[in-house]
Amino acid sequence: MTAPTPPTAELHLHIEGTIEAELLVRLADRHGLPLPSRDPAVLRERYEHFTDLQSFLDVHYANLAVLRTEEDFHELATGYLDHARRTGIRRAEVFFDPQTHVNHGVPIEAVIRGLSSAFEAAEETHGVSAAMILCFLRDLGPEAAEELLRAALPFREHFIGVGLDSTEVGYPPSLFTEVYAMAAAEGLHRVAHAGEEGGPDYVVEALDLLHVERVDHGIRALEDPALVARLREERIPLTVCPLSNVFLRAVDAIADHPLPLMLDEGLVVTVNSDDPAYFGGYVDANYTALGLDRDRLALLARNSFDACFVPEADRARWRAEVDAWV
Ligand code: HPA
Ligand code: ZN
Repeated sequence: MTAPTPPTAELHLHIEGTIEAELLVRLADRHGLPLPSRDPAVLRERYEHFTDLQSFLDVHYANLAVLRTEEDFHELATGYLDHARRTGIRRAEVFFDPQTHVNHGVPIEAVIRGLSSAFEAAEETHGVSAAMILCFLRDLGPEAAEELLRAALPFREHFIGVGLDSTEVGYPPSLFTEVYAMAAAEGLHRVAHAGEEGGPDYVVEALDLLHVERVDHGIRALEDPALVARLREERIPLTVCPLSNVFLRAVDAIADHPLPLMLDEGLVVTVNSDDPAYFGGYVDANYTALGLDRDRLALLARNSFDACFVPEADRARWRAEVDAWV
C-alpha cells in the first residue's frame, strides 16, 4: 500500500508560519526574549481561538520577534524541510516576508542567506526541490513594497518570484500595480493572495493589474460565475489552504469547504498548508481532512505539479509519481 496522501508540490506556504511552538521557545531562550508562555502546549492553545485573518496575523507577527540571526532562519527552513520530506513533498515554492524581520532590526541579508542556504541544498539534504518567493506585506503599502524589492534585488538569484500577503481587505491588488511591473521587468514570477477574505473583485484585479500566474486562496472567486469561467479557461491555478480557511473562519467547517465544488467547476485547484504550525498540520493533513477519494487526491496532486514554476520535464516526472501512487 502506498502512502495515504499523494506526492505533491506545496505552493502556498509561509516559511514563518512553520515556526512550531518548541522552536519558538528555543529561539526566545537563545536570545533572552519574552513570550506569553514558555510552555509549547500553552502557546499552541492560543491558536485555537483565531476569529479571522487579522487575529492570526497579530499573534504570528508578535511571535516572529524571536527570529534574529541567519542561523535562526536556516534552522526554521530546515525544520520545514524535515516535515516536507516526511509528507511526500517533491517541490516547495515557499513564501517569505522580509519586511517583518527588517522591521525587527534584522538585516535582509541574514534573512535571505539563512533561508536560501537551506532551500538551495534541499535537493541533496532532503530530496525536495525548493525555491523562494519574496512577499510584500500589503498593509505596509506600495512604497514599502518597492523599497523591499530594491533592497532584495542584490540577492535576485535566491528568489524566483514575488507575492502579496498579510491583511487583505482594504489593501486591494491595484495598489501594487507598479511594484509588480518592476518585478516582471526583472523576470520574476508573480503570485498574490486574493479572494481569501477580499471579494472576487480582488481576484480580478490580481489577474488584470498584477498579471499573476497563480492566485493564492481565491476561494471567494466562486461568487462570480464569469470569473470562475475565466479561471477555468485560462487554467489559472488556485493555491487553496483548507485547514487555514477553517482556522481563520473563512469557512465554518472542513465539511463545508468549497474545494470539491472548485474541482467540479474544472478549476486548477491545489492543496496547501499556508501556516502549518498554527492551522492544525502540514500538507498531508490538508489532503486527509478533505475526505476525498484517491482519484480526486491524485488530480489535486497533478494540478500542484502543473502549477509549479519549473521546466516541463520536472512536472512530467512528478506527475508520473502520482500515477504510480493511485
Ligand atoms: N493570508 C495573508 N497573509 C498571510 C497568511 C494568509 O493566509 N499567512 C501568513 N500571512
Ligand atoms: Zn497565505
